[in-house]
Amino acid sequence: MLTLGIETSCDETGLALVEGGKVVAEVLASQADMHAVFGGVVPELASREHLKVLPGLLNLLLEKSGCKIRDIELVAVTRGPGLLASLLIGLGFAKGVSLGLNVNLIGINHLYAHLLVANLEQKLEFPCLGLLVSGGHTHLYLLKSFWEIELLGKTLDDAIGEAFDKVAKMINLPYPGGVFIDRLATKGVVDKSLFPRPYIDNTNLDFSFSGIKTAVANFLAQNRHLIFSKEPDVGKLEELAPQELKNMCASFSYALVESLKIKVARSLNRLTVKGIVVAGGVACNSFLRKAFGDFSQGHNIKCWIPSPDLCSDNGVMVAYLGEILGEKGLRHDLDLEAIPRGRPIPWDYISAE
Ligand code: KG4
Ligand code: ZN
Repeated sequence: MLTLGIETSCDETGLALVEGGKVVAEVLASQADMHAVFGGVVPELASREHLKVLPGLLNLLLEKSGCKIRDIELVAVTRGPGLLASLLIGLGFAKGVSLGLNVNLIGINHLYAHLLVANLEQKLEFPCLGLLVSGGHTHLYLLKSFWEIELLGKTLDDAIGEAFDKVAKMINLPYPGGVFIDRLATKGVVDKSLFPRPYIDNTNLDFSFSGIKTAVANFLAQNRHLIFSKEPDVGKLEELAPQELKNMCASFSYALVESLKIKVARSLNRLTVKGIVVAGGVACNSFLRKAFGDFSQGHNIKCWIPSPDLCSDNGVMVAYLGEILGEKGLRHDLDLEAIPRGRPIPWDYISAE
């Protein structure tokens, strides 16, 4: 079923066409440079930019794919969680296209799309764990199938990507800085005792990352020479950064990833699963990719981490999950609502069965 996927939950406008579980074509417009000037995503600017670029991107997508707009059989759109105004732009656009073409509309949970798109590259085996690590979320799920998903734990404060980005900001790296911390960390040596592994002295499966952020701030307050006096030329980042800073980034990344591993190991004591999917923007992190590869071998389970292009926000994941759910006979009506970050996403599909 040729499915158009539309992603506008944050600062990437992503469109894709997927058919039979394969990508037909994809386009992505990132607003990262626009928001970098402000040190974070400015919601008002983000939604205006989505509105501006969506029609042109759809034309480009059709051109790239060789498909005609009339070939589209289903319209899938991210309905949350995300920035409300940005979601509303995507939803309005999706509703217009589905109404104009007289085809079904289906709203997609952005977090489930991040996890389940892993199946595009490697076949997932259920039940499995789903660890979603992004700029807005750190959630641990039990995935029983593509449509039976149970939340096991989540962050109580900052998301792991926020922790990366805030530490990057403390040392004057541009937003979003997770990728720069990663680059420095890979050249550093881990000191396991430098930072506490956050929020592990409990019996739950939740996460908390605000404490380690404070620990880094305290460390930097005593080591002010490690802070760049002005935003560095990131092209020469490895050259410009002192070894001590690289070591700090490695130790920080280690502590974050360890706390994830401890909670995942705890969930494995309580549940029997075939493997773990790790997805979301922070799943691009090299420490995390290596650590979960080793961890899953040690626990004799499989580990699926999508390739980096599929980890950050994109339209493919929306189209991909849209087609799966659409083929199961699920859809929404034109009253489909956008759900902002912080509110649970209802399972309110209309079923043909
Ligand atoms: O999933 P995503 O693209 O957007 C959200 O839905 O939030 O995730 C973006 C987050 C940002 O916090 C970004 O800094 C982080 O992913 N990120 C990384 C890396 N690449 C992206 N964090 C650590 N290491 C990376 N290599
Ligand atoms: Zn995302």
